[in-house]
Amino acid sequence: QIIRLEDYREPAYLVENVELVFDLESESTRVVCAATYYANNTDNAPLVLDGEDLKLLHISLDGRELGENDYSCDNKSLTIPDLPERFELVIETEIDPKGNTQLSGLYQSNGTYCTQCEAQGFRRITYFQDRPDVMATYNVTIIADKASCPVLLSNGNLLEHNDVEDDQHIAVWHDPFPKPSYLFALVAGDLAQVSDTFVTCTGRTVDLHIFIEHGNEDRVDWAMESLKAAMKWDEDRFGLEYDLDLYNIVAVSDFNMGAMENKSLNVFNTKYVLAKSDTATDADYAGIEGVIAHEYFHNWTGNRVTCRDWFQLSLKEGLTVFRDQEFSSDMRSRPCERISNVKVLRAAQFPEDAGPLAHPVRPEQYMAIDNFYTATVYNKGSEVIRMMHTLLGEDNFRKGMDLYFERHDGQAVTCDDFAAAMMDASDIDLTQFKLWYSQAGTPEVTAHWSYDHEAQRFDLTLAQHLAPTPGQNDKQPMHMPISVGLLDLEGMEILSDVLSVSKARETFSFENIESEPVISLNRDFSAPIKLKAAYSRVELAFLMANDSDDFARWEAAQTYGTDLLLDMVKAYQKGQPFKKDEDFIQALRQTLLNDQLDLDFIALCLQLPTEGYLAEQMETIDVVAIHQAREALRRYIAEDLQKDFLRIFRDLRSDKPYSPNAASCGQRALKNTCLSYLAEGDDPACLALITAQYHNANNMTDRMAALSILSNKEADARLEALEDFYTRFKDDALVVDKWLSVQAMSSLPGTLATVQNLMSHEAFSIRNPNKVRSLIGVFAHANPLHYHNEDGSGYAFHTDRILELDKINPQIAARMVAPLGKWRRFDKKRQDLMKAELQRIIATDGLSGDTFEMASKSLG
Ligand code: ARG
Ligand code: ZN
Repeated sequence: QIIRLEDYREPAYLVENVELVFDLESESTRVVCAATYYANNTDNAPLVLDGEDLKLLHISLDGRELGENDYSCDNKSLTIPDLPERFELVIETEIDPKGNTQLSGLYQSNGTYCTQCEAQGFRRITYFQDRPDVMATYNVTIIADKASCPVLLSNGNLLEHNDVEDDQHIAVWHDPFPKPSYLFALVAGDLAQVSDTFVTCTGRTVDLHIFIEHGNEDRVDWAMESLKAAMKWDEDRFGLEYDLDLYNIVAVSDFNMGAMENKSLNVFNTKYVLAKSDTATDADYAGIEGVIAHEYFHNWTGNRVTCRDWFQLSLKEGLTVFRDQEFSSDMRSRPCERISNVKVLRAAQFPEDAGPLAHPVRPEQYMAIDNFYTATVYNKGSEVIRMMHTLLGEDNFRKGMDLYFERHDGQAVTCDDFAAAMMDASDIDLTQFKLWYSQAGTPEVTAHWSYDHEAQRFDLTLAQHLAPTPGQNDKQPMHMPISVGLLDLEGMEILSDVLSVSKARETFSFENIESEPVISLNRDFSAPIKLKAAYSRVELAFLMANDSDDFARWEAAQTYGTDLLLDMVKAYQKGQPFKKDEDFIQALRQTLLNDQLDLDFIALCLQLPTEGYLAEQMETIDVVAIHQAREALRRYIAEDLQKDFLRIFRDLRSDKPYSPNAASCGQRALKNTCLSYLAEGDDPACLALITAQYHNANNMTDRMAALSILSNKEADARLEALEDFYTRFKDDALVVDKWLSVQAMSSLPGTLATVQNLMSHEAFSIRNPNKVRSLIGVFAHANPLHYHNEDGSGYAFHTDRILELDKINPQIAARMVAPLGKWRRFDKKRQDLMKAELQRIIATDGLSGDTFEMASKSLG
């Protein structure tokens, strides 16, 4: 059934304190939950507690054991009528952590007990009002076998730790900060620990511990460094200090998402903790830095101030993504960070906004909240915060943040409360701006301009359009900051400004412009829109060479490349030969040889738009034409710039020991981009270079770059390298994930068969979300050519896996449905095949609500 924002009511009862006792047993854990409840209103409502997959053993009310007639219970809830104003409720349940394959609630990962309670996992541990506006302090007692679970953790401070009889031990934890149930966590197991400390701005020493499986002690340095950097950064940039004396991070290999911000006990997917240079790539290092910071930043934006209800999810997620992006921008190259954020937004969020699953940043209804941990809530949510930051400016934004915490510390609040704090602190009216929270879809902004020599005036007209999305037919114009610059013909910036755009159509005039300028638009991607501007190719090449805004410079290269590639797609479809655009290649060459630019930025400029991005630009997607066009353009570039690529590749090779710092990452990024172009020619000498890099690499970034190139080559070198890679790393789960992905991404014929075979390889397990994402997820999302094979084999394989997974882990199954939801964008034949698979999903007996919601909405 459907849950609606408009139906929000305050909880009937509030909770003061929760006392939990866990007696841990793999298949039968006993949980006693004793809580003090008090009525939140006077209408003597029954108490309705959520509960799922629980075995109810006892209930007592103020010390009196309740009989079956005193309450009613089904598989979703427990209802108790006729309650006093204030009472103590004790509930004893039994749960099965080992049998919990959904990885929600209390489960076991490689023998370690751990929890995931966001959004609604706590109800799989005990009966409770499992909603974020019920906040309480928690006291947690854990009893477990001492030998198999020497480490016992929960939120807050450790009060006691003692041995008890029968080889058991007991730990008591107390969290003094009231919190919603979704932030509860428990971990118990045999884990190794790496420790450090951080001294806060007021001089308090915080103990930092990272817990990992034994043998991984040498892979946590980067995570620890990142944590300390994040703690410092939040003090410097936002004046936010950590509030307890202990901060624990636990890494587990079975985890539905990236990580979880439980108060002082973050639980992480190993992917976002473990790194050493020979097993993790530069991208992995950046991911760890970002996610460690993200979860740390949640301590204020999420935990101290939390969400009133799950429709407000972006209150904490959009804001925290904005904060982690800002952190990463300060830690490494700001323009490159911005470019990679925009690439993610375009790859994951724009398609969401343009398809059947489109929803506003603050959704208005859902069936399964776990389906709403989306790119819209997270990444577009972050863009919304960024636009407020741009409209208000850093100082006012900071005042708004301070006011937000002053008003709402310890509360569960709404996106409106956040916007109100920003408005009140700045006197900037955000009434219209708040449409970004309620209107789904990506605005299209069309730009026209003209220059009047006589008047020395430049006029820019911007017209915005927002197409209907499911359930929203009529849209209003949005308020957005559009950052612009004017460049003179020498490429000097003569003006830069942020326009506050709020009307459907609006003209901005710039006076005293002495000669006809070139305009740079939506600099730094100041608004998350699709810009339509009639740039000539000459102007795009000019912006590539001259724009003083690095983002816009990269964007000019992307726009030029997209333009060209879409023309080539048309040619391919008509059976015409491709035309080579020398000017584009020359513009790329200038970028490549420009010694004023950072190497990582040059690498980004040289990367053509992805097949997925090109697909989004087409009315009817033609995966074969896109693939052929893009490969052809890569070959043209490789031919013309071969000498440059070879020279730069050689210059950038280095024997220095690996360092994850931004400069060395940039060097590797450009070197490996050159190598990938050198590989286009199928020249045996180049193949030898790649094979040599594969074998001699002293770090995973270089080794993986070579392996990715080889995995698309019809050569013995491919099979040899893949086999070598597996032999080297087969005991290393995260590296094996890379081995699976690289094969699932290959454009070579037979890739689906390879993926199918890998399903029964010892390396694969359908119960492990990382393995599923690496093999099946990558195939369905990142291999359009094979996934959309016109015989429907890709769709059928994918659907079989969704149905297989739905029985094991519905959250993961539901998240895999999205590619089928793009059916409207394909030719009739593929449309029918895709729809038939969605229908097959919906018709399946016993389908989970999660998967049903995604499949039925995708079908439309
Ligand atoms: N709050 C977590 C984060 O953004 C995500 C947890 C979501 N988990 C889920 N099962 N929906 O860091
Ligand atoms: Zn988050």
